[in-house]
Amino acid sequence: MGSLSFERVSKQYGQGARAVPVIAGLDAQIADGEFVVIVGPSGCGKSTLLRMVAGLEDITGGEIRIDGRVINGLEPAERDIAMVFQNYALYPHMTVFQNMSYGLRIAGLASDEIERRVGHAAQILEISELLARKPRELSGGQRQRVAMGRAIVRQPKVFLFDEPLSNLDARLRAQTRLEIRLLHAELRTTTLFVTHDQVEAMTLAERMIVMNAGAIEQIGTPESVYERPASLFVASFIGSPPMNLLRDWAALGAATVAATGASLRVALGAGVQENVVLGVRPEDAVIVDARPSGALWPFAVEVIEMLGAERLIHGRVGTESVIVRQEASRPAPRAGQQVSLHISPSKLHTFDARTGRRTDNAAP
Ligand SMILES: Nc1ncnc2c1ncn2[C@@H]1O[C@H](COP(=O)(O)OP(=O)(O)O)[C@@H](O)[C@H]1O
Ligand SMILES: [Mg+2]
Repeated sequence: MGSLSFERVSKQYGQGARAVPVIAGLDAQIADGEFVVIVGPSGCGKSTLLRMVAGLEDITGGEIRIDGRVINGLEPAERDIAMVFQNYALYPHMTVFQNMSYGLRIAGLASDEIERRVGHAAQILEISELLARKPRELSGGQRQRVAMGRAIVRQPKVFLFDEPLSNLDARLRAQTRLEIRLLHAELRTTTLFVTHDQVEAMTLAERMIVMNAGAIEQIGTPESVYERPASLFVASFIGSPPMNLLRDWAALGAATVAATGASLRVALGAGVQENVVLGVRPEDAVIVDARPSGALWPFAVEVIEMLGAERLIHGRVGTESVIVRQEASRPAPRAGQQVSLHISPSKLHTFDARTGRRTDNAAP
């Protein structure tokens, strides 16, 4: 059991005139066994939030509950959580076995139970052969596993991960991502995983919480966040390359106005285009010769990047920079060429330029 809930949680560092507000009135519910990723740019308050759950920071306002019980006043050791940090913080003079078992010995567990738990965790993490080594005799990836092993043996209600993969090289990071997924499938321990890397968030999360400047922008599955970003911030943060965002209505033309007409009218009243930002994912803009129905934009090709299976075509629609993602098997345009982009009406996103919120969704 390990559900986790945040109710109007706020945090400020410092007091009075020197107070720094970091998190303001945050609400979220995490179900028992869920794997939730908190993603947002550096400095948005992710570590602060995790450290409040862990008991390493005071909670300025609101309540955090585990299984319905308010944990605000509990000591870290009483919270039944285990945290894995970016810098694994292993004890250098201890062996892997001692590092993994240290917390259990402090907690007074019997030595045969300690042996059993460490043995099992080492087996899951495939580090059984390393138990007698010191941290300096391990690779970065192996150290990272030991740090995870130390969390697993505690059998906590909640795992907290604070950017645990950022010290690994790209290949190892991708591999460890997979292993963390498999680990969660086996243990089903409630997990809150923090990262600034949207690819990591998309690949790991059952649900993700997108944070910006101490507030939640959107909560949802990776698919729903990608397909229906709730704000301009989410639209430009999730996805690589990011969603194209345009407001040069003179270049976009009447067909675009017609295609977006419904959501424009609903949100803003007819004809107030200046207040609308239009979004389209790079893979949803298709280069065409003919004129199918839907929005058709004039696209001036500037630079083409070949990525292997696909290519990115950089250019302009009116005054706006636009990136088109195209399968490499399709015929490529040339730099300097003028072509047309077709965007199916269902692939257009609209945002209120004043509030930054999506305009066509009642509930994102
Ligand atoms: N001990 C502290 N005292 C004052 N400000 C802090 C402290 N720790 C973090 N902050 C500030 O709080 C904000 C959020 O920091 P943090 O939670 O570390 O962000 P993230 O993990 O998302 O990068 C940042 O602006 C940071 O400068
Ligand atoms: Mg951080």
